[in-house]
Amino acid sequence: MPINNNNSKIEMSMLRKKQHIDRFLKSNKISTNYFDDIILENNSLPELNFSEIDASSIFLEKKTDYPIMINAITGGFDGAFEINRNLALLAKKFNIPIAVGSQSLGIKGYGLESYKIVRDTMENGIVIANVSANTSPEMVDLAIEMIKADAVQLHLNVAQEMCMKEGDRNFKGTLENICNVSNSISVPVIAKEVGFGLSGKVANRLFEAGIRYIDIGGKGGSNFIEIENMRNEDVDFSDLYDWGLPTPLSLIQCVKACPDINIISSGGISKAMDAVKSISLGSKMTAISGILLRELLTNGYESSEIFLKDFLHKFKIIMLLTGCKTISELRNANTLIKGNLLDLISQ
Ligand code: FNR
Repeated sequence: MPINNNNSKIEMSMLRKKQHIDRFLKSNKISTNYFDDIILENNSLPELNFSEIDASSIFLEKKTDYPIMINAITGGFDGAFEINRNLALLAKKFNIPIAVGSQSLGIKGYGLESYKIVRDTMENGIVIANVSANTSPEMVDLAIEMIKADAVQLHLNVAQEMCMKEGDRNFKGTLENICNVSNSISVPVIAKEVGFGLSGKVANRLFEAGIRYIDIGGKGGSNFIEIENMRNEDVDFSDLYDWGLPTPLSLIQCVKACPDINIISSGGISKAMDAVKSISLGSKMTAISGILLRELLTNGYESSEIFLKDFLHKFKIIMLLTGCKTISELRNANTLIKGNLLDLISQ
């Protein structure tokens, strides 16, 4: 009897992973992400040769050619191997970091190849593990070891769980667990939101607990309340679609609250300009998920490679236009903030 229960739980988890991809492709709620309220200053006299623009930086003690990574998406079910192989091929081609999707199934021994293919493809590149923030230190160790990860993302997805029929309802003890994990593992912990935005206050609590990397995962891109709502037949959550802190607001709050924490800016980064703006506002890295996944699954690998190539090329063009030769210069580029974003940060 317990074995059957366990088997059906695993099958349900695999089905959920597949449904997340299917429902994501059907999702269409686009919310304002406020990046348009940020203006970068044009530099008409950059005195630079485009060939010397260097977008590389050191992240997790390794070199990345751009401060742009492919964020956690999937793993563990049948179709995940091919998706992860293609995403890893892209990350490898452009020498950028990649995070695997939640390894909840992997740490129970299921779908291991769908995660391992990412490390195999990336060879020595930057690969990041991903589990729920409530995972025990022993299980986090397994997830790291599975893909020889350079860091582990502990995801914080309260809004998603609450709209999931079978989701968690008890969020007590999460910070303590993050702290325990961080103290017992050998690689850095990245505390990660999934699209609802870390606030400056939460960033501060994480910093006080010893966490040095956060992925703010703000509102403005993939919307997990909408994705879960398409799976949930009992309650209609569409009136919560607007929940969350927009990415630029979350970023500005976190930089102000924790100037020494390493920030990954993500959530609705849909074009090179959003990524450049994120770096100039103080993030160390930016991350994309939904936009690349949609391109890959709708138009195929070659199209997703062209999308990413153009994205990264434009990133360098905008660096030149701002007169910044390196990423450290870009982190000090002049930004002007207007409109609703200015109203929000003035509060
Ligand atoms: C995700 N995301 C995610 N995050 C995470 O920490 N673990 C996971 O397993 C997943 N799975 C997942 C599946 C799908 C289909 C999507 C679209 C996204 C969240 C992702 O990493 C990111 O935080 C959000 O999607 C916001 O970024 P974008 O998509 O707006 O660039």
